[in-house]
Parts: sequence; structure tokens; C-alpha cells
Amino acid sequence: MSKRMILSLLTAVLSLGTVMADNIDEMMKSMTLEEKARLLVGVADEDYEPGTAGHQKQFVYGAAGVTYAIPRLGIPSTLSCDGPAGVHIDSVRPGDSRRYFATGFPIASCLAGTWNAELVENVGKAMGNETLEYGCDIILGPGMNIHRNPLCGRNFEYYSEDPYVTGVIGTALVKGIQSQGVGACPKHYAVNSQETERFSVDEQVSERALHEIYLRGFEKMVREAHPWCIMSAYNRVNGVYAQCNKLLLTDILRDDWGFNGIVMTDWIGKRADLPVEEAVKSGNDLMMPGYPVQIEDILAAVKDGRLPMADLDRSVRRMLEFIVKTPRYKNYRFSESPDRAAHAAITRQAGTEGMVLLKNNGALPMATTGKDTIALFGVNSYDFLSGGVGSGCVNVEKVVDMVSGLKAQGIATTPTLTDIYQKYVQYARVKLMVDKNPLMWFLDQGQPKLDEIEITERCIRHEAQEASAAIITIARQAGEGIDRQIDGEFTLTDLEQTMIQRVSDVFHEQNKPVIVVINSGSVIETVSWRDKVDAILMAWQPGQEGGNAVADVLTGKVSPSGKLTMTWPVSVYDHWSTRNFPQDYDMYSYQRLRQRNRPIKGITYTNHEEGIYVGYRYFDTYKKQVAYPFGFGLSYTTFAYSRPNVKLRNDVLTVSVTVTNTGKTAGKEVVQVYVHAPEGGMDKPEKELRAFAKTRLLQAGEKETLTMEIRKSDLASWSEASHGWEVASGDYDVMVAANANDVRGTATVKIK
Ligand code: GLC
Repeated sequence: MSKRMILSLLTAVLSLGTVMADNIDEMMKSMTLEEKARLLVGVADEDYEPGTAGHQKQFVYGAAGVTYAIPRLGIPSTLSCDGPAGVHIDSVRPGDSRRYFATGFPIASCLAGTWNAELVENVGKAMGNETLEYGCDIILGPGMNIHRNPLCGRNFEYYSEDPYVTGVIGTALVKGIQSQGVGACPKHYAVNSQETERFSVDEQVSERALHEIYLRGFEKMVREAHPWCIMSAYNRVNGVYAQCNKLLLTDILRDDWGFNGIVMTDWIGKRADLPVEEAVKSGNDLMMPGYPVQIEDILAAVKDGRLPMADLDRSVRRMLEFIVKTPRYKNYRFSESPDRAAHAAITRQAGTEGMVLLKNNGALPMATTGKDTIALFGVNSYDFLSGGVGSGCVNVEKVVDMVSGLKAQGIATTPTLTDIYQKYVQYARVKLMVDKNPLMWFLDQGQPKLDEIEITERCIRHEAQEASAAIITIARQAGEGIDRQIDGEFTLTDLEQTMIQRVSDVFHEQNKPVIVVINSGSVIETVSWRDKVDAILMAWQPGQEGGNAVADVLTGKVSPSGKLTMTWPVSVYDHWSTRNFPQDYDMYSYQRLRQRNRPIKGITYTNHEEGIYVGYRYFDTYKKQVAYPFGFGLSYTTFAYSRPNVKLRNDVLTVSVTVTNTGKTAGKEVVQVYVHAPEGGMDKPEKELRAFAKTRLLQAGEKETLTMEIRKSDLASWSEASHGWEVASGDYDVMVAANANDVRGTATVKIK
């Protein structure tokens, strides 16, 4: 009998006195105070080094966290693993020749870019299945913070600038994950709007913006998907740490929204300025990854009355109610071999459907006569980025690059250029391993971006002779703990601009098209160069099948149907929020400033001065030019919309519109429904997204009628006078649109 079988037999015998959902009361009575305190603190590895967040070596190597076991009571340890793009565990285990790869799914912004809740739920099912089969009980995702500003380092892990899109997509993913019998842990609750000084920055936000923008997505997801867990954010919200913020964790999350799971902290140890009893009292049940000193602190707080026994018991009960739901409690015999081939197909479909065609003057789809050869520029064409870096990365077996993806669909790449880049990638990877900045610990987690190389005009001319077109990949990498710079990260580097200029000059001389593929989880500047090229595809970081998904779109195997879930500004300075966002921040020089212990804008505090005017709510209302509007995305075909039909019955607006494929190829269309509220009363955005739907694949000439519902309560704005939601009476303009700047039809309805 194998060691593991003996262990599971032992566990089964021991669990005879199991923690059954119906005898938790008895269990609590028999727990010692020490056991109760231990249950609220994770069990980090003894040799846990701060900064290796999400890395422990018990049970499943590389999983993020472990909770305390009490065998005599049948309470097993439970396990959580990252992250929003798939199961983050080590692929290597000491003394084990087998590799443990997980599937790299598309990053959050790409999933949201599909505007397809059903597809995202399927991704959630696959993600949940891998969580289960690799022996974990919770996956620490989705990330549901708002894209307040393009410079935030973790935007790739979040869905949108809009709370409604965030809520719909987050709900779909959580439902998918939890349908597999494991828990989701949406994060980072709340207002984790930047990475700069994320452990301590005070996110100052008006009550209205907090409810309408930063909490609205979480609210929809909690009410409709009932997550097992929620992760409180590192930062403060209006002066109070999220992890001891009673307003957020109890008054709103539990009393208003009805959340009945557990709240765990983000991965941090004892905080000198945050007594652990304050966390427990406010509704934060579990301290992760957990240090022994935190157990001592809980015991001391109980003993001297700072932590009432009732508060301790409340969290213990929540932990037990959570534990009895977990696969580990149920002794689920996980296989460690999920169906990764099937999941690869799902990730490819989602990645393909999330891509957004930003420009196309007819160069796409590319002809695939079988004899086509492409000149493929840009380092990341050959080192394609599956996802971001940090806890949100996934250790995948292989990332399909553009060469492989194109080749699989009958498109070859010019051999000399391919050889140059492939040899450079090998060299650059080796060099990076010794060159990388040890402070950038998360660079070990995921694919760092290799520096671009210069390709001379002479080389470009040589390649152009045998190529029918050029593709240039522009890539960006980002991750937790650090925000993006403006120069060379939001904007292109001189080298990238030169590459686009040279390739365009040479290929256009020969009437050959130039296509740019953007392999990034974040928005970049486009206006300064987009007129030089024939087509631009935002490929995001679409998961491990990246090159295949890009080829699916470039060859027309799949007509692009993704749309932007965040505004692409002309300049990053056009965002109102940029005035209050840390820029070109150097965390090392800041140490000196910290000694002065005085408020520093964007560092010790960030004032969300723009209030609700985030993204299109700002650009649309203040009539600001944008590069690409919220909701924008081209297809290879065209669509016509009928006049919308809007009916109000029993406080529900039903909006229906018929979409016709008026082009020559099949495609899917995302219809957005925006609502303009009646004038007067509170200031309101010009319009707000209140519903959306996506057609099935429509063949040329086919049509489909989409019907969407908007509850009257969905039209509410948050009143700071009454501290509650208010729906103004009057005429509401209901618009069906292809994007925020392309309204196709309007109907007006009176609401009392
Ligand atoms: C990290 C991240 C969080 C992650 C956790 C565990 O610091 O902020 O998203 O789930 O720690 O790795």
C-alpha cells in the first residue's frame, strides 16, 4: 500500500469524528482556545521568506497557502493556489522526475474582451477542474479591481474600467470555477487601484465612486455567484486598511450583500500598525500566509479582552463552514492529471475570441495560399507572452509562439530573420538569468520581456524580397508590485518606432502590407504610429495557445469579435486619473522620502479625485478625443442593427434589437446597451453601460434578435445625501451601440 494510500486511509479513519456541516456547534464546543486561534492563521512554511508570496512547499509545491489542520477533530488542512489565469503551482518537485504543468488561460482583460459570459464560464470550469485535480481547494481569483488608469501594473489581471462588465465577467468565472466543487477567491477587495506602495497606500475615494465604480462589480458577483472566499486588499481605503475595514468587510459585504463565506487577507505577515484582533473584529477571518506570531497575538487579545470570544467564534464558525465544503475535507482523490489537451482548446478559443481588431484597411484576413511567407519582426513574435508576471503567472508546458502558430496554418516565415531572432532569444534568456534585478523577485514567476533588437533597413530589404507581408509584434510585460512607466512602456520605445517606420517604408514601397500584433496585458500608445501600418490586432496575453490564437484571427479562420473593455487614450495624460497616479516611480529612491514620514501624493495616499469619471464615463461626458473608445472592436464583416424595442414592465426594462450580418463572412457581434439618465439632480455621466449581449456566429446575411434585461435598480446612482441607491424619475434614453462612440439606435422610456 503506497504511502499516500496509508495517509488517506489514516485521514479517513481519523475523520470519523468529522466536522459535519450539521455538528459544527459540537465541534466548536470541543475546540481549545489555541485550536480556534490557529484556525484563523495560515500555516506558512517555516522557511517562508517574505516576498516569495504564493510559494509554499507543503502538500502541493508552489501553491499559495495552507490552513491549519486539527486531525483529532477531522479538520484537514485546506490549500489555496493562485491565480486569475490558471493554477499557479511549481512544475518541478524535488525528487520527482514528473513535471506538473497547468494550463495558461488568457489574462483577465482578454477574457473580458470576449464579452461572452458563457465562454468565460467554460474557462472557469476548466480552471476549477485543474484546481481540483491538482489537489487545491481554492483558486485565488478572479481579480476584479477597476482599470482606473493604464499605468496600473496589474490591469492585466483585472477586467475593465467599467463595473458592469467587471461584474458580469467575474460572476461567470466564479460560477464556472465553483461548479467543479472548489472555491473561488475574488480579489483584491477593495480599491487596489495601483501597485506603487500597495501595502500601505491610502486609496481615498468618495462614497459615491466607491459604490458605483469600485464595489459594483464585486457586489454583482457576490450576489449572483456566491464565492466561497473574498481576499481583502493590502491597501487602506479612506484611511482604514481593507483587511480591518468593518464598513467593507461586514456592513457592506455581509450585511448588505449577504456574503456568507470567509475573508482572507492578501499575503502579508504581522503588521505593526494593524493589530490582528482588529482584522478579526472587522470581519477578516483568515490571516494569510500566516505566521505563528499572529496566533500568539490572537490568544493575547482574547485573554486581555481586546478580542471578544464571540468575534473569535464567529470567524471560527465561518472557517468550519468553509472547510466542510472543500475537496480535502471530503477526501477527494485528486488525479494530478487534468485533461490539459481539452483545456488547451478552451484557452485557445477564449484567447481568439478576446482579441480585438483595432485597424484593418483590408490587409486582413491574410491569404493562405499555402505558399505565403511572412517577414516576422519583434522579439516577442518568437517569445510570445502567455500571461503576466508575479503570482498571476502559470507554469505552462509550452507557449505557442507566432512562428509555430502561423506555420500550423500554412504560413511560413522568412528563414534568415527567423534565425536571427531565434538565436537572439536563446542568448537573451541566458543573459537575463544573470542580469536580472534580484529585487524584481516576481521576474522568476512568468515570462519577463526580453529587450527588443534593432533590425537594419538592409536586413528588412533582404527579407522583403521573399515575403508577401510583414508582421511586427509589439509586446509589454507587467506584474504585481510595480506600476508601469510612461516612457517606453505606455509609449513605444524609439527602437520600436524605428522598426515600424523602416518596415513600413520598405514593404509599402513594394505594395506589401504591414500588420502589427500587440502582445500586452495593458493599453499602449497607438496614435503616433497607427497610420503607418495596415492592420493592428490587440492579442493581449491570450494564454499558452497564443500563436495559434493569433493565427486563427490573422488567417480569418476565426473572425475577430473581441471588443475593448477599457478606453485607449491618445495620451496617458488624457485620463483624469493620471493627475493622481504615481508616475515613473522609483521605489528605491522613495526609501529616503519615507523617513520624512509626511504625506506624499500617489505614494502614501492617492486621491481618486476624478470620482466616478473613470474611463469612458470621463472621455464621453467631457467629449475628449480617444484613440479607441470603450467597446470598440472591428470584425471581418459588418453588422446592421434594427431600431431597439424597449419595454418597461414590473420594474424591468426589456431591450431587444435585431442584428444582421450585412457583410460577406461569418462573424459575431457584441451589442452594448447604454443608458442616459434624466437631467437634473446628481451630476451623471453622459451614458453608462447597463447591459450587453453577443450574437452567435452569424453567417453572411443571417440575423439574430438579442433580448437583454435591465432592472430598475441597475439604473440607480449612489446618493451621498441619503447614503443609498436612488433611481431618478424621468425619461431615460436607452441606446444600442457597437461601442461607446457608435450608437446605432435609441429609444426613450419614462421611469417613475
Ligand atoms: C500576492 C498578490 C495576490 C496573491 C497572493 C498569493 O501578493 O497580491 O493577488 O493571490 O499574494 O500569492
